[in-house]
Amino acid sequence: MKKVLIIGSGGREHALGYSIAQDSEVDEVLYAKGNPGTDAEKKGKNVKVKDDSGELVAFDGTKKENFEKLADLVEKESIDMVVVGPEQPLVDGIVDFFNERGYDRIFGPTSGAADIEADKSYSSDIMYRAGIPQAESMLCTTTDAAEAAIKKMATPKGIVIKARGLTGGKGVYVCDSGEEALSKLHEHAAAYGPEVLISERLFGQEFSVFGISDGGSVVPLEMSIQDHKPLLDGDEGPNTGGMGAYGPAKVADPAMVRKVANEMMAPLVWEMQKGGEEFKGFLYAAVIMTEEGPKILEYNCRFGDPEAQPAVMMFKDGLYKPISAALDGKLDEVNVEFKPGASCCIVMASNGYPASYEKGFPIGGLKEVSKRRDVKVFHAGTGLEDKKIVTAGGRVLGVTAYSAKGLEGAQDKAYAAVDVIMKATRELNDVEVFVHRNDIGDKGLE
Ligand code: AMP
Ligand code: GLY
Repeated sequence: MKKVLIIGSGGREHALGYSIAQDSEVDEVLYAKGNPGTDAEKKGKNVKVKDDSGELVAFDGTKKENFEKLADLVEKESIDMVVVGPEQPLVDGIVDFFNERGYDRIFGPTSGAADIEADKSYSSDIMYRAGIPQAESMLCTTTDAAEAAIKKMATPKGIVIKARGLTGGKGVYVCDSGEEALSKLHEHAAAYGPEVLISERLFGQEFSVFGISDGGSVVPLEMSIQDHKPLLDGDEGPNTGGMGAYGPAKVADPAMVRKVANEMMAPLVWEMQKGGEEFKGFLYAAVIMTEEGPKILEYNCRFGDPEAQPAVMMFKDGLYKPISAALDGKLDEVNVEFKPGASCCIVMASNGYPASYEKGFPIGGLKEVSKRRDVKVFHAGTGLEDKKIVTAGGRVLGVTAYSAKGLEGAQDKAYAAVDVIMKATRELNDVEVFVHRNDIGDKGLE
């Protein structure tokens, strides 16, 4: 029997662990640090360590200062496989650290390969060399150079300012004109530093494609997923980490997903390999369907959050075997099959997110919803107080549903569950604790 360790504590990590636990070979899924939802799973357990006063506390495996203790734990517990959820520990070299300790069953790219997400200039260069369609971009290392680039490149369609490094999805300013970009440039530099990519503005529907890579090839998950980054219905309001996702997305059928995989993911991995960087892990292509065809907005070195939540509801079998095969260099044996139908995930966020919000509100309705077939509530920013599940972060829950009949059915089931939690939580607290979008999946039904 196998033990798997998941690094991270959000909805994506809950979903990855939930999928891995579906394999009969896996008898325990540990999370560092996980959340109350992961700890409550039948095979799930959050890792606890003793603090200075001897009390057992949650152990955050994403922190660089904890990598050594984490590697000790992996040895002690004979962990069969480690799966890293978020980008920061990858960029911080968690995979390099484990590899140096002689442990190679950790799924994720090395720090150098994670630059595909962490360094927009590196990723733009590789795309250029591999002939992968993207927005025309210019790297500027000073604000003066960025000003000159904006003046040169701005068209009546607008222009985009993009931070070079990691910004948690927030360092992109899409501007309607060169004037707006010039006025926003200093604000951008103050928040994210002077190094920016000035990029052509692209138009079209966005979708994500995910693949499992072993460094030499990529097996795509043949289902496109559409995220919803703006806070409000109709894609209005400020950008967030993602307010919901559904798949398959109508904008990209399986043939288009294969095209993205063959022309925009496999060549990327080969080009990285030529440069000495083997990309092993989940490869995430954020694509925009322009009038000229699909173009890459960005690559990420991990699974999407919340895209993982609807994705795992669609797999016929769990993710353990495909990931294990990739780690064994047997990617040719990997075939991830999907169920018919669709899945939809609605993010319930704290009222006030992505700006400031209060925490600690008890959440109602979870028990009732847990009895529903084909509905799964993935936890993200939840906490435990007096044995009660309370809100503890911005994005709190990912209420996810599957329907064999298709998207409308999945959407109905997901929103029905959201309504139960909204109402029960409102009654418990006498205030509106959550916000959510009402139109997740609508683009797929238009
Ligand atoms: P990124 O983090 O690079 O995926 O960008 C975040 C969001 O900004 C994307 O989902 C797009 O909506 C938008 N965006 C990024 N680059 C461009 C571009 N070149 N043209 C238009 N919109 C963009
Ligand atoms: N859903 C957006 C992301 O994971 O970056």
